[in-house]
Amino acid sequence: MPTITRKSRAEISKMRSAGRIVAEVLALVEEELQPGITTAELDHLAERHIRAAKGVPSFLNYLGGRRYDARDPHAYPASTCISVDNEIVHGIPGVREIRAGQIVSVDVGVIYDGWHGDGARSFICGGDAAGTPEAVGLVQATRVALMAGIAAAMPGNRIGHISAAVEDVASAGGYGIVRQYVGHGIGTAMHEDPQVPNFRSRSNGIELAPGICLAIEPMLTLGSDATDTLADNWTVVTHDGSLSAHFEHTIAVTANGPEILTTA
Ligand code: MF3
Ligand code: CO
Repeated sequence: MPTITRKSRAEISKMRSAGRIVAEVLALVEEELQPGITTAELDHLAERHIRAAKGVPSFLNYLGGRRYDARDPHAYPASTCISVDNEIVHGIPGVREIRAGQIVSVDVGVIYDGWHGDGARSFICGGDAAGTPEAVGLVQATRVALMAGIAAAMPGNRIGHISAAVEDVASAGGYGIVRQYVGHGIGTAMHEDPQVPNFRSRSNGIELAPGICLAIEPMLTLGSDATDTLADNWTVVTHDGSLSAHFEHTIAVTANGPEILTTA
C-alpha cells in the first residue's frame, strides 16, 4: 500500500514558497532563452536564482532513491533538467547551443525550509513564430493536458480522474503519451507516493483529499510513447526520434479544489 501524507496548511505554505522559486526560475529561463545560449548557461542562471532566494536545488546530486553520495557517477550533475526536441526529460545541461525553433523543456526542483516544489515548462526557442506548427501544437497540447489534469484534482475524485483528463487531451490531439515516467506525490521528499500516471490504468488509485500534494507532469510526443535512456544514464529520448514536450506543476488538493503551488 502506498503511504500518502496529507500536508497541513502551514506545510503547504512552505511548499508554496518552494514553488514560487520554481516559477521564478522558469520565468527567468523563458526571458533568457534565445538562439545561441547554451543549456549550461541557463542552468547556471537557474542555480544562482535558487540560491539567492535561499532555496536548494533538489536535482543537484540526486540519486533517485539510492543513498546519497555526490561522488557517485550516477548522481545528477546539475540544478535543472533541460531537454531539447526529441529529449523528453532529464537532459543534462552542457555546452550545446540552443537553436531557434527548438523545443526546450526545462524542469526545476527547489527545496525551501525542507519542503519541495517541482515544475517544468516547454518553450520554443525564439518564440512560437520560430517553431513548426507541429512543435507549437505539441507544446500547447501538453500545457492544456496539464491544466486538465490539475482541474480534475478535486477532493473526492481519484488519481485516475487526473490520469483520464490528461489522457483525453493527449489522445484528442493524436499525441503519444509517455508511460515510462509519471507524476508523483511530493512534500519533504521530491518523490513520494502516490504515482500519477498520464494515462488510464488498471487501478483508479487513491481518493484525493485536502492536504494531498502532487506533481502532475504530462510528457507528450509527436510519435510513439517508447523511450530510450542515453549513455549518460539520464537523458530520456523518444525511441522514434520524434519531438516531445513536458509541463509540470506541484499542486495541493484543498477543500475548494486544486491549488497550484509552482506559481508566482
Ligand atoms: N523533476 C523530475 C521529476 O519530476 C525529476 C528530476 S530527476 C533529477 O520527477 F535527477 F534531475 F533530479
Ligand atoms: Co516531478
